Amino acid sequence: MPLLAFETSCDETSAAVVHQGRVLSNAVSSQIAMHAEYGGVVPELAAREHLRNLQPIAQTALAQAGVTPDQIEVVAATQGPGLPSALMAGLKAAQAFAFALRRPFLGVHHHEAHLFSPWISGNPPQAQFDQFEPNVSLIASGGHTILVLVQSELQHRVLGATVDDAAGECFDKTGKLMGLPYPAGPHIDRLAEQGNPTGFDFPRPKLNDPDDNFSFSGLKTAVRYCLRDHPGVLATRQGMADFCASVQTAIVEVLVAKTIRAARRHRVRCVTASGGVTCNAGLRRQLAAACAGAGLRLCLAEKAFCTDNAAMIGMLAERQFALGKAPTPLDADIQPTWELAGA
Ligand code: KG4
Ligand code: ZN
Repeated sequence: MPLLAFETSCDETSAAVVHQGRVLSNAVSSQIAMHAEYGGVVPELAAREHLRNLQPIAQTALAQAGVTPDQIEVVAATQGPGLPSALMAGLKAAQAFAFALRRPFLGVHHHEAHLFSPWISGNPPQAQFDQFEPNVSLIASGGHTILVLVQSELQHRVLGATVDDAAGECFDKTGKLMGLPYPAGPHIDRLAEQGNPTGFDFPRPKLNDPDDNFSFSGLKTAVRYCLRDHPGVLATRQGMADFCASVQTAIVEVLVAKTIRAARRHRVRCVTASGGVTCNAGLRRQLAAACAGAGLRLCLAEKAFCTDNAAMIGMLAERQFALGKAPTPLDADIQPTWELAGA
């Protein structure tokens, strides 16, 4: 049952073919270079770029999978949440594809797919659902920071989320203040590897609050004041590195501590993580150390499946379809603010 999936919720145009729990192809075209000029994603430009890229990316995914369009049995796409005009481009293309082929269509929740992505691994990548166990899952990206209790494969409950900026946004805005290119997360990550994490003292927002929510806007303000008070810090590479290591450590410490605390409170034995920020070397290291210390199993999404990709959309859709989920109507609309509810 080859399934063709599309993902266009933000600034990645992606198409993938999955078949029987295996990722046959996962083509991703990133618009980062285009948006970098503006210091962030411009929704109108993202939508136009998706429209330009969707067909070639779908052709690439089909060719890499060695599958012809008429062999596709199911079509899926991200229905929400995300940037409205970006979502619309991918959803409508997928629905048109399903209509032309007379195949069922499934609209997928972007964050449910992120919850699924840590269970995709191997070569070729495949679903490792025989290894699933209840977990607390951290989704950390440019637009979201969410903690979810995943009780069973398709059953979950949101524990908390950011009340203002997302963790990725904090990386990106810190980078902007430092004059680093957008998105700054990977640059801060690289610089932080050579820096002293105690060089500067930054707040750990909500670290000791009993709830599972996050807040990163205060940290961003602290970054601004610190740069104002230490104007020379950006003059040397070591100063930059120390600054990056200190900010990164503050973000990572909060993410890790709150994730582990939630896992303990809900008595799960496994922690999972996905989303672009999960590519961060410091976060991966600190989560691994904290999980080892707490006797928790850690299942981190592989980097290719951390950032937005159609493979995770396709894998979840295939699973849902196999479990009897009803197809989504071909005239179903986007759901830009779709809440991650218990399934
Ligand atoms: O999941 P994603 O590709 O897109 C969405 O936001 O949906 O995440 C992008 C975010 C950006 O904020 C970017 O700076 C951050 O993930 N990011 C990183 C790293 N790689 C990407 N943040 C810290 N360290 C990284 N290595
Ligand atoms: Zn995402």
